[in-house]
Amino acid sequence: MAAPFVPPKSTHTKPYVPEWVPPPTTKLVTDWAHVTEVDLSKLDSEDPEVVKELLATTKKAIKEDGFIYLTNYGVSLSNLHRQFSLAQYLHRNISEEDKERLVVDIKSGKFAGWKGRHGFVDKTAKNNFDGIEQFNFYREEFDSMDSKVPGVIKPFMDEIVAFCDYLTQSVNRRLLKLLSRVLELPDDYLWDHVQGQGGPVNDGYFRHALFHPLESEVKDRMAGIRMMGHTDYGTTTMLFSVPVTALQICPKRDGNWKYVKYNPGALVINLGEALEIISAGQFKATLHKVAQPPADQENTERLSIVLFNAAKSDLQLKPCDNSPLIQRDGYNLTSYGVFTEFNKALQAGMRVPTCKEWRELQIARKGQSEPQKKNGTPKIINGVKFWEDTYMGVKVLLPA
Ligand SMILES: [Fe+2]
Repeated sequence: MAAPFVPPKSTHTKPYVPEWVPPPTTKLVTDWAHVTEVDLSKLDSEDPEVVKELLATTKKAIKEDGFIYLTNYGVSLSNLHRQFSLAQYLHRNISEEDKERLVVDIKSGKFAGWKGRHGFVDKTAKNNFDGIEQFNFYREEFDSMDSKVPGVIKPFMDEIVAFCDYLTQSVNRRLLKLLSRVLELPDDYLWDHVQGQGGPVNDGYFRHALFHPLESEVKDRMAGIRMMGHTDYGTTTMLFSVPVTALQICPKRDGNWKYVKYNPGALVINLGEALEIISAGQFKATLHKVAQPPADQENTERLSIVLFNAAKSDLQLKPCDNSPLIQRDGYNLTSYGVFTEFNKALQAGMRVPTCKEWRELQIARKGQSEPQKKNGTPKIINGVKFWEDTYMGVKVLLPA
């Protein structure tokens, strides 16, 4: 049985941190997205039938929905709420000087540091206001805490480091073991060959985000959206389920967006493009967005904690043809998947991007919360409008 998360024993006196109180859930949504629960503790079961059933459940969910609720992964609700309390403390107490000093520069291809409510593109442009504050911890933030982390959160970095270490080294490693088994590969295949290694977040990042309620003028401009539809580019995204309903998914890319229901303590996991490509489309990087919450939650702050796990920086994005599942079932090519476009580039003999090139290009080009502003006419696929773009010879579709 995998060891549970145990917070570190403090070696110093810390300031008092008010407890995060989960806000009330919505009463207005009834038509929820289909998301399957995957109980990670079953992977350790001595009963082969239990493990077999877990594999079958996971295989179906990641091919059809691309999203799962991961439960019993080793973090208690009280330890999880402590991390939310720390995120809330950071957002309530970060100094104006630290906001200025640590401001994010997405042209670098990273979200590292502080992002204010003004949006990603230009903090002086009024229309870029999105009401979302974030602090993003990358490897550099963990390596140089004295200079790269807001002063208010420094006394608590031991807890944040331990939490991220547990999520990457234990939860993500076990999850990748489960996914390796779905591909019928050795248990540590994805961990050893695909997942970036080293440090609490490796080449990914950990995010504390706070979505402020929007004033009606901004709400009208953003037309019900808080973060544009996108797919993640890494291996696995670990989003902790929160009471304020806002995450929406659209697995079939047919314009049928549905909210993901709050599941207390669960990790909402979605798979990134790196895993879709490596699995030859057997795993799905699902389109998702952050929408305006339902009316009974629209004036409530939404606090969010996310760990974005990244693939090895120098890994060339190609299917792992040694998977018996891929050899037997072939490539799963859809009309919209990122793997379909990568496959075209591979078949044409092109050099496809490395994971680092792919993620940095996307961050620098797309941002996350700004509506896509492009010339020309959007393309209609299955009745849904997309803008087409090309990154290093690979076509990408962005929701219009
Ligand atoms: Fe995302």
